[in-house]
Amino acid sequence: MRLARKVTAMAMASMMVVSMAACGGGDSAETTTAAPAETTTAAAADATTEAAKDAAEETAKEAEAAGGAGGNIGVCIYKFDDAFMTTYRNALQEILEGKGYTVTVMDGKNDQAEQNNQINNFIAQEVDALIINPVMTSAADQIIATVKDADIPTVLINREPTAEQMSTYEKLVYVGCDARQSGTMQGELILDTPNKGDINGDGKVSYIMIQGDPENVDAQYRTEFSVKALTDAGMQVEELDLQRGDWDRNKGQEIAQNDLAKFGNDIEVIFCNNDDMAIGALQAIQAAGRKVNEDIYLVGVDALDAALNEVVNGNMTGTVLNDANGQAAGAVEAMEALLGGKTYASGEQSIYVDYVKVTPENAADFQ
Ligand code: GAL
Repeated sequence: MRLARKVTAMAMASMMVVSMAACGGGDSAETTTAAPAETTTAAAADATTEAAKDAAEETAKEAEAAGGAGGNIGVCIYKFDDAFMTTYRNALQEILEGKGYTVTVMDGKNDQAEQNNQINNFIAQEVDALIINPVMTSAADQIIATVKDADIPTVLINREPTAEQMSTYEKLVYVGCDARQSGTMQGELILDTPNKGDINGDGKVSYIMIQGDPENVDAQYRTEFSVKALTDAGMQVEELDLQRGDWDRNKGQEIAQNDLAKFGNDIEVIFCNNDDMAIGALQAIQAAGRKVNEDIYLVGVDALDAALNEVVNGNMTGTVLNDANGQAAGAVEAMEALLGGKTYASGEQSIYVDYVKVTPENAADFQ
């Protein structure tokens, strides 16, 4: 099944990467080619790298046949202590190393100033290309100006700047997903339940929303479009609470615990902007004696291995695959295009990989 997921992700990546869409320090290296990236949380440990290893083996053979790609690549991740980004960075590292690149991956520690130093260091080291997961979307202007000034081909990942911001530098591209799609799919997962989320039959879906980092467009769009899917389908909705959980399992648990104590059986749906927070919310749901899919619904995004297990076991209503392997493959493909001299016109600098709705019926395909 792991192989099936990898093949699906890679096939999807090669399909999607060709479809372009316009849209709106001084520290030493944290990880290098010699040392695999560390895993810093229990949640992150769920994120295995087997699929990426399979992909790396394949690409390594190709690279060997081609005489090895070579080149020094700097990778900046917003923080290592993030379950989904751990899967993503491991995939990225495996694919790049498999292609013969020398890779250095830095932990931004959720600190934009720290990441700016790391970018400047990479520039001083004259890396051939950069792959950057910005700490803050609002820092995009500054990051783009810096890499443009240094004339370094750059792929931004995970946090999408505006088309206008990107248009200032033709050797820059964004690879990611359209977060609106994931929000819509979360809403559809609720609409697909027997009572469309209205468990108590009072004519409205009463929910709490556990948001990621609200500065992040993924959090904004998932929050908006999950609920929009319900209202577009004619459902009445009632928001009992909306709180930021910063993508974090413990915060998800705390918010759900407090809300379950405060609102009790009035809560019919818990929307979480990602799976790690949903797994935290599930702990609170179980501690409160509630039962998912019977007296409450719970949805996340990412399709972390732990969440896939919960979907299969009926402890999560569903999740949405955020295709880390596909995005990593897409980022490397775009980076190689840039290294080969390709430039990107304004309005064509976002490359999207599709999300996939995950239910008990298809969850095993992604495990
Ligand atoms: C989202 C992902 C979250 C978190 C976030 C970091 O796409 O769903 O789990 O990793 O990116 O920016």
